[in-house]
Parts: sequence; C-alpha cells; structure tokens
Amino acid sequence: MIEFKGIVKRFGTRTVLNGLSAKIREGEIVFILGTSGTGKSVLLKNIVGLMTPDEGEIWIDNEEVSKFSEDQYLPIRKKCGMVFQHPALFDSLSIYENVAFGLRRHYQLSEEEIRNKVSKALRLVQLHGVENKRPAQISYGMQKRASLARTIALEPRILLFDEPTTGLDPVTTTAVNQLILDLSRELKTTSMVVSHDMNCALTIADRIIVLDKGQIVEMGTPDELKKSQHPLVKDFLAEVLN
Ligand SMILES: Nc1ncnc2c1ncn2[C@@H]1O[C@H](COP(=O)(O)OP(=O)(O)OP(=O)(O)O)[C@@H](O)[C@H]1O
Ligand SMILES: [Mg+2]
Repeated sequence: MIEFKGIVKRFGTRTVLNGLSAKIREGEIVFILGTSGTGKSVLLKNIVGLMTPDEGEIWIDNEEVSKFSEDQYLPIRKKCGMVFQHPALFDSLSIYENVAFGLRRHYQLSEEEIRNKVSKALRLVQLHGVENKRPAQISYGMQKRASLARTIALEPRILLFDEPTTGLDPVTTTAVNQLILDLSRELKTTSMVVSHDMNCALTIADRIIVLDKGQIVEMGTPDELKKSQHPLVKDFLAEVLN
C-alpha cells in the first residue's frame, strides 16, 4: 500500500532523513516515534507530496509517486489525507465551512450530503455546537479536532496523522485514539501516526517505527518492541512503565 525505499531528504547541508525504507500494509496502523526534530513531520510531508525526497522512492498503491507533478498528485491527495501537527484552518471560515471545504472541492455533493458528512465528522471527533464559530473563537484542542474532522470527512483510504493528540486533554486523547482504531477497523483505513505517546502506540499500533537522527532504529510489533535493546527505545518504554 505505502512503501518507501531509501528516502533521503536534505535541507542545505543538513541531512534530515537518511535512507529510510519501510512497507506499510493495507489496513495497518503504524506509529512513528522519535525525539523532536528527527524528521517525523518531514517524512509524512514527503508521502503526501508536500515535499520531494532528494533520493529514494515512494510507492503508493503500486505507483512511484515521488517524482509526480502537482497535477499527477491530485488523485493521490484524494486518497491520502493528512492531519497536520498544528491545526491549519482557514481563519475567515466557520468551523462548518472549514470541514466542508475539501468536500466541496473534491466532490460534487448536494448541500444535504455535505451537511451529513460534516455532522458525522464533527461527531466522530466529539465537537459539538461550534459549527458557526470561527477558529479563533474556539480553543486550541477544539481547533485540532476540527482539523482532524476536516480530513476524515473526506474518508481517505490512507490517513497520516501528525501528533493528533498532542495538546489534547486525556479524555479527548482517548477518544481520538479510539477513532483511529475504529477508522482502521471499519473503513480499512491505512494509518501512519506520528506520536510521542508510547503507551498509546503499544495499545493500538499494529507496528511501531522508531526514528532517530533520520534513520529507522527499530521497527516491529508492540511485543517485539518491548524486547528492544536500543537505548532510545528503552527510554521511551521506561516512561510507560513508570
Ligand atoms: N522546510 C524546511 N526547511 C528547512 N529545514 C526544515 C524544513 N522542515 C523541517 N526542517 C528541519 O528538519 C528537521 C526535522 O523536522 P521535523 O519537523 O520533521 O521534526 P519532527 O521529528 O517532526 O519534530 P517534532 O517532534 O518537534 O515535531 C528539523 O531540524 C527542522 O528544522
Ligand atoms: Mg513534527
């Protein structure tokens, strides 16, 4: 479903991704853990085509997409939704219109169909009664959930989440993690989730990838990871056990 082979990404003389290779299977939930600045967001941006790798290949559904033009990427963007680390909502639009935005842009839907899809997405992220508010009028956590709703409203087959629960309260965090699990089980969505939350990764991931200094230092099922001898992985695990 998604495969990257030998991905290298440099900024100037700095190599941020240094030869990453992995294969994500259909319907799988893969968590990506790693310290701050290690290239997790850059990796997701390369997959959705917001950045291009300097070396290597990215395969999505048997197509090598890394050299695709903007036009060629459009269908990929449709099946591959990304939830950004920081909510990127349109300030001048209501929450309702923000969530409806992609639906209006990508599909020919009646107003009623749009209303149903927007309501469903807002319900899934447990956001109620803010449809008519502007982003600046709601809290950061609510903005984050609205941006999550905007992506899932499009029902993409592949979902890339960049720290979906960072900055959310524990109750909403549990709800969002449950949502990722439900989407994956019910809609067979393939998910890549960047997270700092080892606890949650161990609970809901099929596999976990640990990045350090632009390389994959560990990759495996939660049970396999628990046996890892890598110091960084052990540090992450220590936090859970404490
Ligand atoms: N557009 C860019 N231009 C130049 N450098 C960049 C750009 N985007 C990211 N970087 C650099 O690449 C490195 C990795 O950034 P990235 O955002 O992927 O880290 P991250 O693993 O997501 O960290 P965090 O956990 O803090 O979100 C950082 O040093 C960052 O400064
Ligand atoms: Mg990041």
